[in-house]
Amino acid sequence: MRLYAFLLQNHLPKIEYYSRFSPSPLSIKQFLEFGRDNACEKTSYMFLRKELPVRLANTMREVNLLPDRLLSQPSVKLVQKWYLQSFLELLEFENRKPEDGHALNDFLETLIEIRNRHNDVVPTMAQGVIEYKEKFGFDPFVSSNIQYFLDRFYTNRISFRMLINQHTLLFGNDINPAHPKHIGSIDPSCNVAEVVTDAYETAKMVCEQYYQAAPELKIEEFNAAKAPQKPIQAVYVPSHLFHMLFELFKNAMRATNDLHEGSKEGLPLIKAKVTLGIEDLSVKISDRGGGVALRKIDRLFNYTYSTAPTPSLDSKRVPLAGFGHGLPISRLYARYFQGDLKLYSMEGVGTDAVIYLKALSSESFERLPVFNKSAWRHYQGGPGADDWSNPSKEPRDTSKYKAKR
Ligand SMILES: Nc1ncnc2c1ncn2[C@@H]1O[C@H](COP(=O)(O)OP(=O)(O)O)[C@@H](O)[C@H]1O
Ligand SMILES: [Mg+2]
Repeated sequence: MRLYAFLLQNHLPKIEYYSRFSPSPLSIKQFLEFGRDNACEKTSYMFLRKELPVRLANTMREVNLLPDRLLSQPSVKLVQKWYLQSFLELLEFENRKPEDGHALNDFLETLIEIRNRHNDVVPTMAQGVIEYKEKFGFDPFVSSNIQYFLDRFYTNRISFRMLINQHTLLFGNDINPAHPKHIGSIDPSCNVAEVVTDAYETAKMVCEQYYQAAPELKIEEFNAAKAPQKPIQAVYVPSHLFHMLFELFKNAMRATNDLHEGSKEGLPLIKAKVTLGIEDLSVKISDRGGGVALRKIDRLFNYTYSTAPTPSLDSKRVPLAGFGHGLPISRLYARYFQGDLKLYSMEGVGTDAVIYLKALSSESFERLPVFNKSAWRHYQGGPGADDWSNPSKEPRDTSKYKAKR
């Protein structure tokens, strides 16, 4: 780790240099047009050899603002080491012309290596946060900082992988025979209801390993913008949509089973509604799993919040729940292309979870964190005083006031 500190010190000027540039967000439409009409490996190379270090440097600056006690956790150090190593590997191409010998091929291989190196960033970072929480506890300030940081850090990672995947899928050798129409990771005519069904079936398999049964699914489509009979299609990254839906289904199934397991009426079904308007493409997943009180809803998006026991990492079974990352990360996927994910719950009855996506690929711009003054300010200072009243602990003894009069 000494070596790492030395390397970091040595390369700080480069990290600072690249972090002064803001990332350049792309829209799904741009990704698509680039891949379909004028996919040029050299152009992609020239763009990425700067854009990737810029995105890495922006996030590395932010990592350094975390509390020292968090930074000193071994898993956080490991993540930092991966980032530095990938950053340095990308700098190798800083001055290499695309025509130089094997530059394009080396770049492709480097990208694949980087992607693999970063595979476990989320569980490793989560481990660091848990270690910290166990040793030092969370005060509200640290907790909100870590939430702010992880949202940005993981969004950065989603975007980083998106760029790498587009390049390696378009220009690598591994053509995807199952999806010849996909442009990189994008499906230009993604049938949303099909992804809903896939995600449901996969969640059902996981659920059935834990409970005797899984609730049935009913899908409805409402195509308000086009011919009502036409299936709703999106220009989107199916793996992102799958990720979100899979998480929502697991949650809905767990809640439904916990409330209704063994009941005579059986399990109430889960309803999915896919709708297309002019601006929004929305998918609602509704369960009758008993819901969550309003007071707790925001908390469900905290990275360390789960009401399930923490699953063991070496268990062979895919965990149904317990890491508490399902909702917050799904929301990041939705927000990444300017959508959102919201929960509307009625305590005692059930929950509606809605994924909102942009209906138009020209509006689906990447939403990216930028390291700047105002981000920096978030990590400084202490928690502000609450500027709304809190209910007092005991009702006032009004007789005291009366006596004074
Ligand atoms: N549909 C739902 N109905 C009731 N509770 C839910 C629902 N979805 C999520 N929750 C609550 O939110 C918590 C966090 O969900 P999530 O982020 O997916 O993490 P995990 O599933 O690993 O616990 C769950 O533990 C559960 O208590
Ligand atoms: Mg979950």
